[in-house]
Amino acid sequence: MTGEDGSDVVRRDRFSGGPARSFLSSLAADERIFAADLAVDRAHVVMLAERGIVGDDEAARILTALNIVEVNGHGSLPDGEDVHAAIETAVIDEIGPVGGKMHTARSRNDEVAACIRHRLREDLLDAVEATLLLRESLAGVAEEHVETVMPGFTHLQPAQPTTVAHWALSYEQALRRDTARLLDAYGRVNRSPLGAAAFAGTTFDVDRERTAELLGFDEVVDNAMDAAAARDFLAESAGALAVLATTLSGLAEDLVLFANRGYVDLSDDYSSTSSIMPQKKNPDTLELVRACAGDASAGLDGLLTTLKGLPRAYNRDLQRATPHAWRAVDAVTEATEVAAGAVATATWSEAELAAAAGEGFSTATGVADLLARHGLPFRTAHEVVAVAAQRAAERTSGSAASHAAEQGADVAAVEAAAAEVLDEPLSTYVDPAAVEAALDPARSVESRDSVGGPAPEAVASQLDAAGSALAADESALADRRASLEAAADELAAEVSSYV
Ligand code: ARG
Repeated sequence: MTGEDGSDVVRRDRFSGGPARSFLSSLAADERIFAADLAVDRAHVVMLAERGIVGDDEAARILTALNIVEVNGHGSLPDGEDVHAAIETAVIDEIGPVGGKMHTARSRNDEVAACIRHRLREDLLDAVEATLLLRESLAGVAEEHVETVMPGFTHLQPAQPTTVAHWALSYEQALRRDTARLLDAYGRVNRSPLGAAAFAGTTFDVDRERTAELLGFDEVVDNAMDAAAARDFLAESAGALAVLATTLSGLAEDLVLFANRGYVDLSDDYSSTSSIMPQKKNPDTLELVRACAGDASAGLDGLLTTLKGLPRAYNRDLQRATPHAWRAVDAVTEATEVAAGAVATATWSEAELAAAAGEGFSTATGVADLLARHGLPFRTAHEVVAVAAQRAAERTSGSAASHAAEQGADVAAVEAAAAEVLDEPLSTYVDPAAVEAALDPARSVESRDSVGGPAPEAVASQLDAAGSALAADESALADRRASLEAAADELAAEVSSYV
């Protein structure tokens, strides 16, 4: 279309046609929000028609053109600075200048913010679903291994015996918080900036609530300047993902270590071999899960650095912020799914674990607790058991300096230590048979039945809680998905009433 002065009336190409064209364009990366943009366009056009800002027949033509653009796909879009410009051009190419009415009462600024939120909310729900899968895997392991005794570590050294169930539920609980953080972020992502236009609102009588409703957003971002400028929802999402990735990295590291020690056997599906050493079975997938913490914190750091110091209201820097969030959510969701599979298919070696559970005199704390329960101040009990450990170590190695790292103390060693430290026989305080029992890793676990402890009955209530938390989060996820689907159906129904 040519204007009175002979110029091209569609002036978007006046700028950005030069050598920086591809640097300026986000069209390729915007494939991620192609579907979101079509939804946002449709909701906006329906609202414009309902408000009488465009005619019903004009809306019908635009909506028909959008259907054609959808069928042709992102790959067929004309060149443009971004998907928003390219779709508008495609619509105008299809139906002529009336297509330009689509951009009435809006800007790419509120449009892009709406598209990112629209897409990210689905990605966050996928991330949530992945955490639920992993929680289910961990709860499954816990259910099977309530009585499988294993060594527990501090400083990577054998510390106290625990169970595989207790270990698995420790990660299940951490992941519950990761799920909660993602759902919490979702609540602030799922708000509509549409109607903010460039940042300063519009002279048209738009209905912001209506576009929000048609797009399944829970509410409107009120202040138009905030709506266009804010990307804290990206930083918050990446933050939640980075914390989740940190949880995953610890879980992966534990499993790498346990596999190395023969405590757990990873399924071949989650292992890899060496190109030169034919005997090798390596826990590569878990190493990659562990590494995803790098992707996630890179995403968060990329976002915070890009967003820092940006003035109000819109700056093109924002275009480069978005991909950080996509990379983080993709990496972390995939890592979570892989971790879920690795956990669900691993086999725990009960015999190896039982043999290792008592290593390093890991029952020492239980013996000290026993003495303390029979009246000795805990500090004195600690001293008796420390001396017993030392004497036992001397017996094995002959070196006074060596500590009981490998060898535990037996009842005789505790008796000797009691005589040495207390000047009284052990039996004055406690039946040596009880000491014998406290030295047994399985009995030691059973005796730690405080809330949250590893004793089977304490673990049973943790398992119950894991089950109900999982059910609650599954229904929270289903509710959110259902409300997005209902909105998509409503929008589709509105669109078909025009075309
Ligand atoms: N593609 C841009 C982005 O991702 C949106 C375009 C807004 N452009 C502008 N010059 N105001 O942020």
